[in-house]
Amino acid sequence: MSQQGFPTDFLWGGAVAAHQVEGGWDQGGKGVSVVDVLTKGAHEVPRVITESVEADHFYPNHEAVDFYHRYKKDIALFAEMGFKCFRTSIAWTRIFPNGDEKEPNEAGLQFYDDMFDELLKHGIEPVITLSHFEMPNHLVKHYGSWLNRKVADFFVAFSQVVMERYKHKVKYWITFNEINNQRNWKLPIWGYCNSGMIYSDHGNPEQVMYQVLHHQFLASAKVVKLGHAINPDFKIGSMIHMMPLYPATCHPDDVLLAQELMRQKYLFSDVQIRGYYPSYLRKEWERKGIAVEMQPGDESILREGCADYLAISYYMTNIVSAKKDPDGETTSLFEDSKLNPYLPASDWGWQIDPDGLRVALSDLYERYQKPIFIVENGFGAIDQVEDDGSINDDYRIDYLSAHIRAVKEAITIEGVDVMGYTPWGCIDCVSFTTGEYRKRYGFIYVDKHDDGSGTMARSKKKSFFWYQNVIATKGESL
Ligand code: BG6
Repeated sequence: MSQQGFPTDFLWGGAVAAHQVEGGWDQGGKGVSVVDVLTKGAHEVPRVITESVEADHFYPNHEAVDFYHRYKKDIALFAEMGFKCFRTSIAWTRIFPNGDEKEPNEAGLQFYDDMFDELLKHGIEPVITLSHFEMPNHLVKHYGSWLNRKVADFFVAFSQVVMERYKHKVKYWITFNEINNQRNWKLPIWGYCNSGMIYSDHGNPEQVMYQVLHHQFLASAKVVKLGHAINPDFKIGSMIHMMPLYPATCHPDDVLLAQELMRQKYLFSDVQIRGYYPSYLRKEWERKGIAVEMQPGDESILREGCADYLAISYYMTNIVSAKKDPDGETTSLFEDSKLNPYLPASDWGWQIDPDGLRVALSDLYERYQKPIFIVENGFGAIDQVEDDGSINDDYRIDYLSAHIRAVKEAITIEGVDVMGYTPWGCIDCVSFTTGEYRKRYGFIYVDKHDDGSGTMARSKKKSFFWYQNVIATKGESL
């Protein structure tokens, strides 16, 4: 019988990352991570990467929304919405403050033990990202980051410690958050957050990026293999930031360009899901004279560590044009793409395209035939608190309901196997690209502002009750 709606075991939930919610950046023995040296920016104002934590800068992730101290109450609110799962990350620097220690930091391990217990108490499955922009800054400064193969060993050691420790508490894992972000070296934060690298500082950024990636692919494959040995029930995913690129026109040059640029996204999941470098990439390396240093045995490591599922984040689509001097507004964030004249956009220029999610799901499922987990989707907006304290975020409800409807169509019409849906920033948190508080995604409002003011008090937005009903009706009432 064909699937008519969301499966009964569908993982409805919400997503965040440790560094964007926890705060407590120097508590419990935690070390300095790559985001701890990122200042606050704004729309069109890039965040600055400082050498170390410097006295005269504001680093919003240091305090974030204080989940480190308030997680019990926040989790109770997730439970009230009916979450079946909650995606967050384990901050590497809570477990290995510098990344190269022999022994893990027990206080950090205990924090996640307690937090996972709290989730499980409410029947919420943790979904854990092992690397979400949180690598120890020490590994950047003293080892040259992921360009050094040793860093892959440190990451595998960290992953082994946490997978062993939480083998009875966590079943769903993701190795690297949006590993393909670093393909964009227009703004340094993409490479720095993914891998502690500023690619534009290198003469041949592409060569350097592929070497870094090779180390990350190996690390990811080793972690998948290791994880399955620790607990055969583990489901370990790889993740890409999925932003379909449409050809700007039906001119074949635009179609070919869109196809070529899409391959620059697929290559990441091709390696992690299929377990080998695809032919189109090897040809590209040949053409460009890129030589990736590999050791004997590397290819079998990749083959033996294929991910169990593909996790994606989806926010928008863009268009690409082969014309040298294209008309139309270019985006500030993403290389090689432009805004689609048919689509509206958020205040941050992120275009709204629910059909694009269906396109993404269908394409990816046809390509891999593996379950897909939508681990990020959402609408960053400025929320207005009314005099009576209410927050009427109908724009967020509209965005999410249209996207959930598109997921339902992909399941029902195309037969895509979708495991779950965790909207991004289920509780307001610090924006990754801008470091702002005012770019809010949450169902739960946090009284904290860009000027540093605010009580950190939590309140329920209109979307809180809407999402509660979506989960209760298994996606039937949107
Ligand atoms: C994804 C990241 O790129 O997008 C998240 O995995 C991030 O960490 C999210 O927060 C939304 O981006 P932003 O810049 O609006 O916070």
